[in-house]
Amino acid sequence: MSQQREFPNWNNLYQERQVETMPWYNPDLDTDLEQALTKLKINTGTVLDLGTEPGTQAIALAKKGFRVTGTDISEAAIIQADSKAKEEGLDITFRQDDIFNSYLNQEFDFVFDRGCFHGFHPDIRQDYVRIVRNLIKPKGYLFLKCFSHLETREEGPYRFKPEQIKEIFGDRFNVISIHETVYQGTLDPLPKALFSILERI
Ligand SMILES: C[S@@+](CC[C@H](N)C(=O)[O-])C[C@H]1O[C@@H](n2cnc3c(N)ncnc32)[C@H](O)[C@@H]1O
Repeated sequence: MSQQREFPNWNNLYQERQVETMPWYNPDLDTDLEQALTKLKINTGTVLDLGTEPGTQAIALAKKGFRVTGTDISEAAIIQADSKAKEEGLDITFRQDDIFNSYLNQEFDFVFDRGCFHGFHPDIRQDYVRIVRNLIKPKGYLFLKCFSHLETREEGPYRFKPEQIKEIFGDRFNVISIHETVYQGTLDPLPKALFSILERI
């Protein structure tokens, strides 16, 4: 679970492959996020879709009326997401941005991270927690989807147990809930995942 994991060059990946073929491609709003928004009665506000890639989640959130910013380290991904949003007549701010060297200078009502955090090496996780916390309004939320320790495929990102999420985020976030779920996309069977609702302290 803690072995060193390998990741693609994200920019090359998005230049070379159609986003629809990516394992995590899901054109619909993530069902765990949708349920969390319903449960917490959140239906308006500002959102950061962190590691937005094909922009599917940013686009789905904008269609629901949220004011959305989508960022990704890959410029190729941002160009594609931006043109898709424009085709659909949606006003979404897409920008190339590395979360560890971010130009973002606003606080959002919530941040959605679907598959970005679980790619980061353990040594930089606390940097991530500190940076992301500063991008969220007090009492705002981080909705985090990452691979679960129950996922048995060899390849792919780091995996997490609920206790690890509590340990990593617990100093700067109230852990509202963590549940086992799946990561919707193009893989069969769908990878096992954790969905966490974390409230900024
Ligand atoms: C597994 S993909 C998930 C994409 C999207 N959230 C989704 O669910 O379809 C992870 C994304 O995180 C982006 N990413 C990786 N490192 C990043 C960083 N340091 N800052 C911002 N984005 C990053 C990658 O380019 C990639 O698009």
